[in-house]
Amino acid sequence: MEKFTNKMTVQDIDVTGKRVLVRVDYNVPLDETGQVRDNWRITASLPTLKYLLSKNAKIILLSHLGRPKGSVNPAMSLRPVQAELARLLDHPVDFADDCIGPKAQKAVGLMRNGDILLLENLRFHAQEEANDPEFARNLSALGDIYVDDAFGTAHRAHASTEGITHYLPSVAGFLLEEEINCLSREPADPQRPYVAILSGAKASDKIRLIENLLTHADKIMLGGGLANTFLLAQGYDMKNSLVDLERVDLARELMARQEGAKIVLPVDVIAAEAVRAGAGHKTVDLEDIPPGWGTVDIGPKTIDIYSQAVMTAGTVLWNGPLGVYEIPEFSKGTALVGRAVAQSRAFSILGGGDLAAAVRRDGLTDKINHICTGGGAMLAYLKGKPLRAVEALTDKVAAFPLDPSLDIEAQMQEGTFF
Ligand code: 3PG
Repeated sequence: MEKFTNKMTVQDIDVTGKRVLVRVDYNVPLDETGQVRDNWRITASLPTLKYLLSKNAKIILLSHLGRPKGSVNPAMSLRPVQAELARLLDHPVDFADDCIGPKAQKAVGLMRNGDILLLENLRFHAQEEANDPEFARNLSALGDIYVDDAFGTAHRAHASTEGITHYLPSVAGFLLEEEINCLSREPADPQRPYVAILSGAKASDKIRLIENLLTHADKIMLGGGLANTFLLAQGYDMKNSLVDLERVDLARELMARQEGAKIVLPVDVIAAEAVRAGAGHKTVDLEDIPPGWGTVDIGPKTIDIYSQAVMTAGTVLWNGPLGVYEIPEFSKGTALVGRAVAQSRAFSILGGGDLAAAVRRDGLTDKINHICTGGGAMLAYLKGKPLRAVEALTDKVAAFPLDPSLDIEAQMQEGTFF
């Protein structure tokens, strides 16, 4: 995708006093007491919300949380987000128990300029993920303008991300615009050397990305189950480590196909008898993983190799922590390579909820150029898959700005201005 210049943004449309439906990604982790454990995605939405408040808009927030699969699940209610958002904004936030129907309509009907209303989890209705046109139309009827600020769901063509754009002028919020602009620097014109780090439990989501990166990146350094799968393909006995047996052939093929030695694998690992805090563990070379043990982090020699590569990189793209970062004994790889990225002069883009959490915990956030709010969306984008929700936004050339009180489709066809 090109840099984000051809789609309308929230600054291209008159939102003053309008009912603005904002799709946010408040899919945040909750703790045992049901409170928001990590408010990062909420914080990331604040610039757009503050802008809309400054324009006296009525802000109606749409989001999903978790995967309730079309039925009401109180453990996945967005209610905890209401309190957290109100606290962060220092502004009251109302809540409606449903995202469509009489409850939503009544709550919207009571809004005054400058009010904020959060609607209940969109995915309590199966029609959301099915991109049901009637459901999308009903959502759209609650507003005059649609703003998409949910980069995390940009790769999903759901009713609240794609369907709704057929009924309203649809523009990007600041977060979505920023994320796309940042990502579109890569692989278009990266500063070299361009170093990618890919890691995580499952190989399946990321192995295809390696194929793409082989043509753009200078080095692709692997960790986690992804690295294990490649190591197995290289003939190492990975014992009880997490591997993706279905991807071993593809891993072997990619190793054979690469030009030079772009794909970099761990040379040593931390092996543990179990993936839990306090479990027996030690640093070993690849040949020495004890029977029944599995890898839980990269080892010190590998940390050195990976750190040196990022220290001299022009661009670093990183998705997924290098070890089981939640357990302190297994988090060194992520922490130390993270520190090297933070110290390096490379333009750095990180993504994936776990890696983002690790980097925040290690206090490195300010030293990273961009941390994506959506790991899945980042991977989809980098694999060259279309971001359906972004593609669906109104083109700048269609009409600038659209008049939300008139027929939108007709204006888009005619290119009407006002
Ligand atoms: C995410 O957490 O990556 C986004 O909120 C998308 O969630 P999903 O994978 O359940 O669609």
